[in-house]
Amino acid sequence: MLNNKLYIVMVGLPARGKSTIAYKLKENLTKYGVKTGIFNNGDLRRRLTGIETSRPEFYDPNNRQGVELREKIAVTNMGRAADFLGRTGYVAILDATNVSLKRREKIVSSITDHPILFIECINGDEKILKASIQRKVALPEFSHLTKEEAIKSFRQRIEYYGSLYAPLAAERNFVKLDSLNNKILAEEIRDKIPYWDRIRDFLVTDTVKNLFLLRHGETHFNLENRIGGDSCLTENGVAQAQGLASYFQRKKIPVIFTSEKRRTVETAVPIKALQKTCTIIPLKDFNEIDSGICECMTYEEIRDRMPDVFLARKKDKYNYVYPHGEGYASMKYRVDMGIKKALYLSRYSPSIIIVGHRAVNRMILSHFLYRREEDVPYIYVPQDRFYHIVATQDKKLLQLKSYTL
Ligand code: F6P
Repeated sequence: MLNNKLYIVMVGLPARGKSTIAYKLKENLTKYGVKTGIFNNGDLRRRLTGIETSRPEFYDPNNRQGVELREKIAVTNMGRAADFLGRTGYVAILDATNVSLKRREKIVSSITDHPILFIECINGDEKILKASIQRKVALPEFSHLTKEEAIKSFRQRIEYYGSLYAPLAAERNFVKLDSLNNKILAEEIRDKIPYWDRIRDFLVTDTVKNLFLLRHGETHFNLENRIGGDSCLTENGVAQAQGLASYFQRKKIPVIFTSEKRRTVETAVPIKALQKTCTIIPLKDFNEIDSGICECMTYEEIRDRMPDVFLARKKDKYNYVYPHGEGYASMKYRVDMGIKKALYLSRYSPSIIIVGHRAVNRMILSHFLYRREEDVPYIYVPQDRFYHIVATQDKKLLQLKSYTL
């Protein structure tokens, strides 16, 4: 093979998922036998300098010293990447913002030995950005600041980069990626790019190494067969949560996603308590189906008092929408968004947990598992077991497991 070496240059504002994609891409290519290295300017900066470079002024385009130091770091990493490809490496990923034209022109004029593929990560969702920033400011480089100061400082840094931002347009080979939805927004490939088929397919694949999908423990409403509401766990429900906690104690779970309902958060809290570092992130997208005028009723009450509702739902459970509420079909978009957000926010965590509800978990399962629509509202979602899901480019696995020791 003549030219089977490649530079990948990441592009995008801070907190847009660049490093996560670089990391996962490296992992994926390496598994495929393609030795890949990441050359991250932020990591090198943190190694070479102190907290002064975590201050927002360092990123002010008018701060000459800051500009010079960042250029020096970029050049050093280009040199290290070239060395790597000159020896045993096949793909070198330059992971930095690279948002200005000037920086990219410098990269293009300095790299002449192998082709360059630019990958621009775009994500304009303000809520996701907020959640990503919350995770970023937990990094040691912000430990000297209060959380509020750190967020302000990081936002200011983003603004400075934003003032220089020139989206990809004239580059010979590029992909613009909606990094939340794994969707390619634009692509231009003029040269022969090694591993391109595999890279493109990877970029559009939802990947999760280990997703443990749990249903909340038993609630007072469950005992009465009442739907919806915001009931707490029963004693048995708390025991189920503790059983889950001891089971997952053996694994590393850095992040647990729940709905905003008490029963899912109460199930997650004991699990978090037995982990070293773990964050609970409640997402509204995972709230249980809104049963509208039937909220808090039992199925028997609905059958007796609202026979039309009962029968219409029985006839077409997937498409039926509760008056003033939701249905499975109408819930699909928000649950899918919840999955995208969870995968995005969990970055490269090897394992994550989602604690959901019966209908929501059916929709999550149907995202990973082919089922006819009419069968989705009947997928088995017990409270005393959980689903283990693996979804990568090369492997799909779904297993119902018991957590009782
Ligand atoms: O009973 C628990 C529950 O999560 C309710 O809150 C929800 O309305 C219901 O299950 C969803 O299941 P189904 O669609 O089968 O009624």
